[in-house]
Amino acid sequence: MDDRPIGVFDSGFGGLTVARALIDLLPEERIVYVGDTGRYPWGSKPLDDVRRFAAEITEWLIRSHDVKMVVVACNTASAAALDDLRELTDRPVVGVIDAGVRSLLSATESRNIGVIGTVGTISSGAYQHAVADLDSSIRLTCAACPGFVEFVERGELQSDQVRVLAQRLLAPVVDAKVDALLLGCTHYPFLAPTIREVMGRSCVLISSADETAFQVRRQLDDGGMTRKGAVEAPRFLSSGDRQEFERLGRMLLGPELDRVGVWEG
Ligand code: DGL
Repeated sequence: MDDRPIGVFDSGFGGLTVARALIDLLPEERIVYVGDTGRYPWGSKPLDDVRRFAAEITEWLIRSHDVKMVVVACNTASAAALDDLRELTDRPVVGVIDAGVRSLLSATESRNIGVIGTVGTISSGAYQHAVADLDSSIRLTCAACPGFVEFVERGELQSDQVRVLAQRLLAPVVDAKVDALLLGCTHYPFLAPTIREVMGRSCVLISSADETAFQVRRQLDDGGMTRKGAVEAPRFLSSGDRQEFERLGRMLLGPELDRVGVWEG
């Protein structure tokens, strides 16, 4: 039994897909979520900057909330900073990349798969390496999707503009005829209806959120760190516009996102 909260962070609203999965799978766990909307997007910034942001938030979560585990609910930060964060603290740090790759490989039948993500994630090579480490004979097509995150952060999830952008950016994975596509940015599941329309029904869309939550549960169980107790409302903090985070965040996550505090680091 470990009463301490789990710290979760992302550049903004994307990590709410992971927070949702954690709340559903582990309702008794306490959650502190930081959305760095004041400095988003991370996916188009130099990876050194992303590493610094990730380290700042991780240190703050440990210092201010004594979190028992850190969940990096962001692909760009997982690609850039996971190893550094694991050196920074001896508390478990869980990323989203390995979980996503596991789901992707279990979903494909044709062994012809795709990953989409931010420029930072795709150019880091993290997915290319993670897939090759598990199965070097698989065919992987990757595509960066600059602009998707901005649509989500504006709450524009379905529009002609998003569809036109999606048709252009998804062309490499459509042309490659992948049968499973990993949404390798935690913002992208919010665009799933548009992505599905462009990819067609024969392609399975995979989000890493559920598999990441299962991974968290496994690590809590293995470490004897599970919490048993009354359900507590998760805490949400934003480095940007607090009221906007409340409004859009509630729409994206659901009623558990009640009030948002200011994150000043
Ligand atoms: N949601 C993040 C990811 O999974 C970051 C998006 C961004 O800020 O560009 O990569």
